[in-house]
Amino acid sequence: RSTVKTLIISNRLPIKIERKKSKLKFTASEGGLATGLGSFYKENGSYWLGWPGIIPKNKEEEAYIREELKKLNLIPVFLTEKQIRDYYEGFSNAVLWPLCHYRPSYVELKESYWNAYQEVNQLFAEATAEIVDPSMRIWVHDYQLMLLPMMLREMNESASIGYFHHIPFPPVELFQMLPWREELLRGLLGADLVGFHTFENVDNFLDSCSGIFQNEIDRDNFRLSGRRISVDVFPMGIDYEKYSQQALSPETITYSQRLKNLFKDQKLILSVDRLDYSKGIIQRLNAFELLLNMHPELIGKVVLFMLIVPSRDQVNQYKKLRNEIDRMVGNINSVYGKPGWQPVAYFYHAVPFEILSAHYLAADICLITSLYDGMNLVSKEYIASKQDAPAVLVISEFAGASKELSDALQINPYAVRRTSETLYEAIEMPLEEQAERLSASQEIISKFTVHHWVNLFMERLSEVKEQQQQEL
Ligand code: UDP
Ligand code: G6P
Repeated sequence: RSTVKTLIISNRLPIKIERKKSKLKFTASEGGLATGLGSFYKENGSYWLGWPGIIPKNKEEEAYIREELKKLNLIPVFLTEKQIRDYYEGFSNAVLWPLCHYRPSYVELKESYWNAYQEVNQLFAEATAEIVDPSMRIWVHDYQLMLLPMMLREMNESASIGYFHHIPFPPVELFQMLPWREELLRGLLGADLVGFHTFENVDNFLDSCSGIFQNEIDRDNFRLSGRRISVDVFPMGIDYEKYSQQALSPETITYSQRLKNLFKDQKLILSVDRLDYSKGIIQRLNAFELLLNMHPELIGKVVLFMLIVPSRDQVNQYKKLRNEIDRMVGNINSVYGKPGWQPVAYFYHAVPFEILSAHYLAADICLITSLYDGMNLVSKEYIASKQDAPAVLVISEFAGASKELSDALQINPYAVRRTSETLYEAIEMPLEEQAERLSASQEIISKFTVHHWVNLFMERLSEVKEQQQQEL
């Protein structure tokens, strides 16, 4: 294992802090970035810089938080209320997120958002400068910090800087909508290596670069102003061991059994996601309703268990979506439910890891309906949590993970009727076929783990640095 230390930088730390009854509560953050890398950084003695999700009350509290996080190799960057509104909820989640997820009509182009985005990226650059030493590799993550690689490059020309984009990169037609498209691309090109989950994302990114920097860019031998930059595909994996082992623990098995007893003689269809319009929750409910409509014999025999984690609830489109989900769940339950039975079990909160694992273990089917999703780790976690059938993964072809999971049942979530037919197929699938498909998926997911992903990215980064050296 390499001894070079890595400084991971992302908007959100893998630990978030909340104030509950005037006490501070430290819990694991949700979202693929935090859960995926959360395992790696501890093992490698790396450091992680990011926002802990809380505004300290005063200097003493700030110092206390710093101390506590330091024990975990975490370094906080604190944001003000205005920065949270304009940089996090604003530019990150009401401009970049919808644009990258094909929702140009949700984009709110405001100058104030852009100003805050630049300001906070600068704040991260300054925080980095305070702690980084020249021997460290720097690994910047995700769309909230697209300007940071170039800011860091300007501070140190020879630094090793990687950037990974965890969400889709949009086609050039969409990206060029942005008034600040050039600044954002230039920001990313401060890195030595820029990584994406899929080939499609790489192509989209290179198309945008070629369009905007025409003369400066040599696409096949990619460089900006003479400096070589590598752009490549790295599909992110999960900590397979962690999920497969947890599913064997007595605590998780007991909880999973309790869940199964609650839904005795019923097929349990599970979905797990943040409340986000990219996850296709409305399409999922439509497909499930159609299933009940087309197959009344399933009434009382199947339940859609939706574990939905609150996310970005101050952003307009997220508020609207929450209301819409409440309305639809209420409607389906009132139309198809009967005394003692409801077709949709909907929970709006996060659960601890052990409990999440029990849900995966208990579920007969895991349903992923993303309309667009960088990777989708939930699908991989489900596969890793199973020892054996019953287990059917139904996954949207628009989730990055579907490219690797060719043995899962694939759906186009916009095609509601077809999706409900596929769900029926999943319900009826013979156990033997389930087991075959499961083990084929497990073979892939257990091989291409998050450790493999990190190693591959780091090896590639070293290669690029060597190539740059030779070209000097
Ligand atoms: N997750 C969690 N707590 C929960 C439910 C989910 O930590 O109560 C995690 C889940 O294990 C997964 C992540 O949230 O690792 C979601 O990642 P995914 O890639 O599926 O989607 P994202 O949220 O990144 O869009
Ligand atoms: C996705 C993004 C991450 C983000 C996570 C949770 O996984 O790619 O960058 O951290 O969602 O969203 P949040 O806004 O709560 O950090």
